[in-house]
Amino acid sequence: MCGITGYIGERSAVPIVVDQLRRLEYRGYDSAGVAALSNGVNVMKTEGKLKILEQLVDGAFPESQVAIAHTRWATHGRPSVPNAHPHGDDSGKIVVCHNGIIENYLELRDWLQEQGHVFKSETDTEVLPHLVEEYFEGDLEAAFRQALSKVRGSYAVALASSHAPDQLMVARQDSPLVIGLGEGEYFIASDIPAVLPYTRDVLVLEDGDLAVIRRDGVTLTNLDGSPVERQTLHVTWDAAAAEKGGYAHFMRKEIYDQPATIRDTIRGRIIDGHVDMPDLGLHEDKVRALNRIYVVACGTAYHAGLVAGQTWERRLRIPVVVDLASEFRYRDPVIDERTLVVLVSQSGETADTLAALRDAKRHGARTLGIVNVVGSTLAREADSALYTQAGPEICVASTKAYISQLTAVYLLGLYLARLRGTLTPEAEAPIVEALQRLPDQVAALLQKEDEVVKIADAFMDCHDFFFLGRGMDYAVAQEGALKLKEISYRHSEALAAGEMKHGTLALVTGDVCAICIATQEHLREKLASNIKEVKARDARVLAIARESDPDIHKYSDWAIRVPDSLDELMPVLAIVPLQLLAYYVARNAGCEIDQPRNLAKSVTVE
Ligand code: M6R
Repeated sequence: MCGITGYIGERSAVPIVVDQLRRLEYRGYDSAGVAALSNGVNVMKTEGKLKILEQLVDGAFPESQVAIAHTRWATHGRPSVPNAHPHGDDSGKIVVCHNGIIENYLELRDWLQEQGHVFKSETDTEVLPHLVEEYFEGDLEAAFRQALSKVRGSYAVALASSHAPDQLMVARQDSPLVIGLGEGEYFIASDIPAVLPYTRDVLVLEDGDLAVIRRDGVTLTNLDGSPVERQTLHVTWDAAAAEKGGYAHFMRKEIYDQPATIRDTIRGRIIDGHVDMPDLGLHEDKVRALNRIYVVACGTAYHAGLVAGQTWERRLRIPVVVDLASEFRYRDPVIDERTLVVLVSQSGETADTLAALRDAKRHGARTLGIVNVVGSTLAREADSALYTQAGPEICVASTKAYISQLTAVYLLGLYLARLRGTLTPEAEAPIVEALQRLPDQVAALLQKEDEVVKIADAFMDCHDFFFLGRGMDYAVAQEGALKLKEISYRHSEALAAGEMKHGTLALVTGDVCAICIATQEHLREKLASNIKEVKARDARVLAIARESDPDIHKYSDWAIRVPDSLDELMPVLAIVPLQLLAYYVARNAGCEIDQPRNLAKSVTVE
């Protein structure tokens, strides 16, 4: 997804905005550009990676203390230099970087062309600088406001202009934007990690906010010009936490962060052996009155939701429906004020998830976000936010965020069950103890990395992977298959193991690898039969099984043993070797692991 950065202060602006872009690389991009103010507006853009932009701008710009920059992930118009941001007006005096989608850009563009404006790109964004130019009569801020009032859609936008060379302007509607507050200097960014090397004090803009930023301060108003106040967020993450910390890739670092992630997610939420989360504002009478729960999310977060569906329904004794946000928002689900809608999202900015949230709120549901990014839209708009405490996740492929979502799912399930009266303190105690053992168990499992390396080597000639499981293991199979396909580009799909014989078994030959997740005690024999079905058709079988499983090795080619825990907690353990397997297959294949092709970390457009 696109990233915006900007700087105004006393320092040399261009190296700073490019460095900030680097810290947004995890969002994914296909082109990049910079505009700097000094005796006019200077712009440089390129297709491809940031290192090309760095070479391009090196020494090429006159010294400047005001700049904006952008990494683009194409939505309207293919990746190309003309389509890369910043985009300018006809006079060359106004430049804009934009994230989001301007839905009425075609009609605006037609109108602007009638007024004589000439467009150089295929983007929706380019209407913005031309609109500002059209309305400019000596007051840039007024023109910016008027331009935004004509726009329908979503935007985070940064504007620089030689009409007002001592300021930057930004505005936000449905796309994230923050301002880092320094001493006589300010940093604009789409996401907090990009300002952390420079400051920990951040203003998180809300929808409808417009800020004029000068060296001596920030003036914040809404689009009508009325003043608004936003509290300064003091970010406690260490900037180094967002760096690779000695690992070759963020993905492997983030896999290794997972024991700490589970501990951080649990911390402060278990009091005297019981889960307690009073800050969620969930009242016993309301929880007892719930008639159903929806869990709504996308991608990996949806896979964490699948685990929630199984464990919560069993424990809470009410229907728990798990849905993809992109489906939920269009299917008119049955929702009323006795419904709880739980939205799961690492970024808290996924467009479909936010649309589902807003739809649920319109229907009167109580909403709760399980979310990682503090100050994100989901965290702010849901009735309550349960933060997953994974810290910044940089690799596009989610690992530690998933583990933290699972942990939050278990905590919330126990808490809701206690409030509903379906879980006694005696029954809760052993589950809490098992939960607290997970960090050490995951750490122990990471010691088996060498086993995974060997198996990944043996799998390099395989291009079709089937991930099979039942119950919770089927949820893990879906996440394991997603990890492998998104970073190694191998075909992989997950199946409920009992479904194989209803069609997919036709594809099973000696060329296929079957990854069988076999951690659910109560389904062990059923899954064993399914493994034998694929083995009989010559598939190569890797099983992920419990340490205590007595005979998995008898009918699989390889078995990775994971520590024993309660059936419902096994997804936390079963996913770890699958994450490592995906990592090593991708590494062996020479793939760009942290930024897979065509993917973005945060999908803020539909
Ligand atoms: O930020 P979110 O959790 O809402 O993102 C949802 C998905 O885009 C995300 O989980 C995606 O599937 C993962 N990056 C894949 O590893």
